Amino acid sequence: MAEIDRYRSEDQRAIQLLYRRVFGQDAAEASRLRWEWQYQRNPNVPASGPLIWVAREGQTVIGQYATIPVRLSVNGAEIDAAWGTDVMVAPERQRQGLGEMLVRMWERNVGAALGLGMSESSSGLFRKLRFPSFGPVPCLVKPLSRRALRRPTWPVPINRLVSALTFPFVRLVARARPMQGEVRTIRRFDESFTRLWERVGSEFAGAVRRDANYLNWRYIQPPHVRYSVAALYREGDAAGYAVYRSVQEPRGRATRLIDFFADPHDEDGVLSLLRFVDREAQAADSDKIRVFATHAGFRRLLRKSGYYPWRSNMEFVARINAVNVDAAFYTSADGWHITAGDSDQDH
Ligand SMILES: CC(C)(COP(=O)(O)OP(=O)(O)OC[C@H]1O[C@@H](n2cnc3c(N)ncnc32)[C@H](O)[C@@H]1OP(=O)(O)O)[C@@H](O)C(=O)NCCC(=O)NCCS
Repeated sequence: MAEIDRYRSEDQRAIQLLYRRVFGQDAAEASRLRWEWQYQRNPNVPASGPLIWVAREGQTVIGQYATIPVRLSVNGAEIDAAWGTDVMVAPERQRQGLGEMLVRMWERNVGAALGLGMSESSSGLFRKLRFPSFGPVPCLVKPLSRRALRRPTWPVPINRLVSALTFPFVRLVARARPMQGEVRTIRRFDESFTRLWERVGSEFAGAVRRDANYLNWRYIQPPHVRYSVAALYREGDAAGYAVYRSVQEPRGRATRLIDFFADPHDEDGVLSLLRFVDREAQAADSDKIRVFATHAGFRRLLRKSGYYPWRSNMEFVARINAVNVDAAFYTSADGWHITAGDSDQDH
């Protein structure tokens, strides 16, 4: 009979071996590089240690649920929550109810259980457990060059034709526009970002608390990926930020706008940040900028800045237990602020 309890440091090797069997060698190596940062160094990790549950049978580890604890603002109330990230069950023990036991254990111990961009099997598991799903987090793309609209599945002549036909339109949306406010790159989030969160965080139906401690851990300290951060300042105080990185993808170069934050009513501020990212993306020779964002107000400003809706399969699920929410709360994520910087989506 399997038993589930919290992770102990002596489990590390057994968990690494299981990870390799379930996800493969490359994924296991990548996970090993970021493990300590992801599960131990997050400022929200409780004194009792990483928020990871381990399924054991005697001495053998047969499953785990590793989660990332966060503070979550829900309609203005801040509660403990956790992103469910690395859930796995030994291949020979799958489809016997262990995954369900692990999810229930996690859920019982957090104020809100959150999931983003799950695999097919864990998405099936959440569906079976009737986890409320908000559907895919909307994706938007801003084309910067003719190559931006190419698709890997289209043959080369079609891609060339699309590039040629769309060139005037791409030039129009990519043209430089004047910026307002002081935007500059930073290497550390100072305490004025905590004050920004304190002012603005309660405006969202749901959002992870983005204070300076969290932001420094999430975007400055990762050992495996380097982010650029642009900050908007007004009279010395932070009024917003944008986190991005440029990568080579199969059909061209993309700047990924991983996360951003400001008062959604601060249209000038948000547009200034987006213009700064435009320039950075152009300087990096990117063909497009891609962003994932739930909030309807932010998406309106992204559209105004030249972004267009794109296909997304990054599903978002959440169950709130610590505070009461009505059924209508789960019908739309338009008031949430969820981005690709949440959970462990970008690594
Ligand atoms: C996801 C996982 C942990 C589920 O563990 P499990 O012990 O098999 O889960 P359970 O036996 O409790 O299954 C519960 C339900 O999950 C769903 N499910 C499980 N495996 C599935 C699969 N391969 N495809 C679709 N649905 C699946 C089914 O609805 C299942 O109910 P059913 O068996 O009555 O049809 C396990 O499949 C796993 O390790 N998968 C590979 C790793 C992975 O993808 N992790 C998620 C990363 S986001």
